[in-house]
Amino acid sequence: VQSRRPSPPAAPPDAETLQRRAAADPGVIGFGGGLPADVLFPRAALTAAFVRAVQRPAAAALQYGWPEGLEGLRTQIAERLRRRGAAVAPEEVLVTNGAQQALAIALQILCRAGARVGVDPETYPGALDVFTARGLVAAPLDGDVRALYLMPALSNPRGHGMDDLARARARARRLPIIEDDAYADLRFEGPAGRPLLADDRERVFHVGTFSKTLCPGLRVGYLVPPPRHKARALRWKRSADLQPNTLAQTIVEDFLGHQDFDARIVKLRRYYGRKAARLLEALRRELPRWEIDEPEGGFAVWCYPDEERPELDFLARAVDEGVSFDPGSMFRGNGAVTPLAVRLCHSSVDEARIEEGVRRLARAWRRLAGPGARGPRARPASPGPGRTNAPLRR
Ligand SMILES: Cc1ncc(COP(=O)(O)O)c(C=O)c1O
Repeated sequence: VQSRRPSPPAAPPDAETLQRRAAADPGVIGFGGGLPADVLFPRAALTAAFVRAVQRPAAAALQYGWPEGLEGLRTQIAERLRRRGAAVAPEEVLVTNGAQQALAIALQILCRAGARVGVDPETYPGALDVFTARGLVAAPLDGDVRALYLMPALSNPRGHGMDDLARARARARRLPIIEDDAYADLRFEGPAGRPLLADDRERVFHVGTFSKTLCPGLRVGYLVPPPRHKARALRWKRSADLQPNTLAQTIVEDFLGHQDFDARIVKLRRYYGRKAARLLEALRRELPRWEIDEPEGGFAVWCYPDEERPELDFLARAVDEGVSFDPGSMFRGNGAVTPLAVRLCHSSVDEARIEEGVRRLARAWRRLAGPGARGPRARPASPGPGRTNAPLRR
């Protein structure tokens, strides 16, 4: 006999489910994810670098290597940092599996479970993932913390650099600082400036990557730890995965040796700057009451809609309309969903689809908030204090 019991109602989809659904549908214009533009991957030059790497004498690119990475690549990284004012020697650089691993190593060295780490009110979700995995607590920068996690050159998600005063204040805390430099080369108006590393070799763990300027698929990043922590960092790296990927390192080293990387960076800055301008213009036209934080660089624009609404409802409506975004709670240490905020990435959206994406977003917003709805906002005027002690979501 067949049971006629009704099935329980399906749970509403969470943000990741909605985002995966959106990403799998080519009809959806994806402002989420923070991916570099795939049209800018230098495929021909990477193919040539790959072929040369595989053909190198003694098959070095296919062999095991040392945990710190290839000397040639470390020399190029050190040289690029030296040009920005940081006197770094190649032997002080550790190549890692992306900036993400560099971050994980630095946090492993600095913090025991339960430690509080000072972060911006909105910060990089991948860092929050490491915090969660290690039992660390995201706390306000000015609180009682064990270390600071900062993006002095250019922040994710807001796309701002720290000015001299903010840098001086951070250094005056005399705490270990993890300097995430991932977006440093992507300031619209000029080259990467002086890193914090240049002024403090004792306390700064400098984290960098080729993910944003070359391609993330190779997973080549690096860590410059304070000299006294280098041996520990190396031991950690060896125990985690023996060494960085030799083939990927050889490709990046070869690419840097054969291509004009500085010219490439100028091209990237112009390209992303143009797309950011286009996104800002469309947002001001279609959603004039939203508060928009104009970025100085990077892949994204951070916005506050003009009403408080449940962010998952907004994302679900947006996906129905054929557009997606990153909900603001992803960037908050405690996963707070208010004040309602969204990160819109122009980086991987076709230039010609940006306006249409914003039109869809505006339609979704009107459907949710109503055409003329106004209401009090819970948002403080400034980014506001980071919230602590609540359970971390990501
Ligand atoms: C601020 C920041 N740091 C680090 C990373 C991780 O970079 P990687 O791909 O090198 O691991 C990202 C990637 O989005 C990022 O936005």
